[in-house]
Amino acid sequence: MSFEVPVVATIEDLRSFVRARRADGERIGLVPTMGALHAGHLSLVEEARRHAERVIVTIFVNPTQFGPNEDFLRYPRTLATDCEKLGTVAADLVFAPTVEVMYPKGFATTVTLEGPAKADLEDRFRPAHFAGVATVVAKLLNQAQADIAVFGEKDYQQLLVIHHMARDLDMATRILAGPTLRDPDGLAMSSRNVYLSAEDRARAPALYRALSDAAARIAAGEAIGHVMAEAREAIVGAGFDIDYVEARHADTLARIARRHEGPIRILAAARLGATRLIDNVAVPAS
Ligand code: PAJ
Repeated sequence: MSFEVPVVATIEDLRSFVRARRADGERIGLVPTMGALHAGHLSLVEEARRHAERVIVTIFVNPTQFGPNEDFLRYPRTLATDCEKLGTVAADLVFAPTVEVMYPKGFATTVTLEGPAKADLEDRFRPAHFAGVATVVAKLLNQAQADIAVFGEKDYQQLLVIHHMARDLDMATRILAGPTLRDPDGLAMSSRNVYLSAEDRARAPALYRALSDAAARIAAGEAIGHVMAEAREAIVGAGFDIDYVEARHADTLARIARRHEGPIRILAAARLGATRLIDNVAVPAS
């Protein structure tokens, strides 16, 4: 069964929806996205639904988180199909503001970040990215005043940055995480996968294979440095150019040399042609 999901574009309409639902005693869940929705996004809607009677999905391709040479202009914009997909998971409202609504003339405030935003991972390759993400997410959380908001582990550093920000700035919305949905061959679903040529799409699952293999070997007690060097070799061997492939502390993203130093997350970004893929896996506790 599929429902028609109402779309609003102004903060006033968003807030009046939230006010009316709250007045009926309902909890509100928020799922921020940039659209071009796939099953991974829809799984976050379902996760939000487990904690809230009403789920709002935001769709906004946020210009401030794209670097000057990144894909802001050609980022896929598919609002009509996105709304159809959201109907299949019975989302209650889509908030799709324009750039002018989000960044009116004279806009002059940015969230400044330390901690996991300065981990020398994504931030090394996309220096202004997390300030843009944190600022837009702070705005969306303030606009919606939801009880919970769900973010994907797919963007693991982003998840930690948002978690930290919400805690540090005493935001009332509880931040929850949803697991990464993958294609059957292991490739993490991403709006950017549509950029891959058929040949690169066939190579792409090697990234997840290498990360999962490394995680299993570290869990089994092999030395992290050695395992990670072999993971990098496998990824390069599959045709990728690596930005980073690293084992880090799962909570702080601090560098980690030995398994007992904490829960470990393996994070990677690597390019196939012009397409940059990111992925990460947990090292299972052993
Ligand atoms: P976007 O890339 O559209 O992702 C929206 C949400 O979906 C993020 O929380 C992301 O981690 C999650 N997601 C992406 N791929 C997923 C997958 N395969 N499985 C599960 N969840 C997945 O991330 C952003 O947008 C933006 O930076 C945003 C937070 C909306 C701020 O502009």
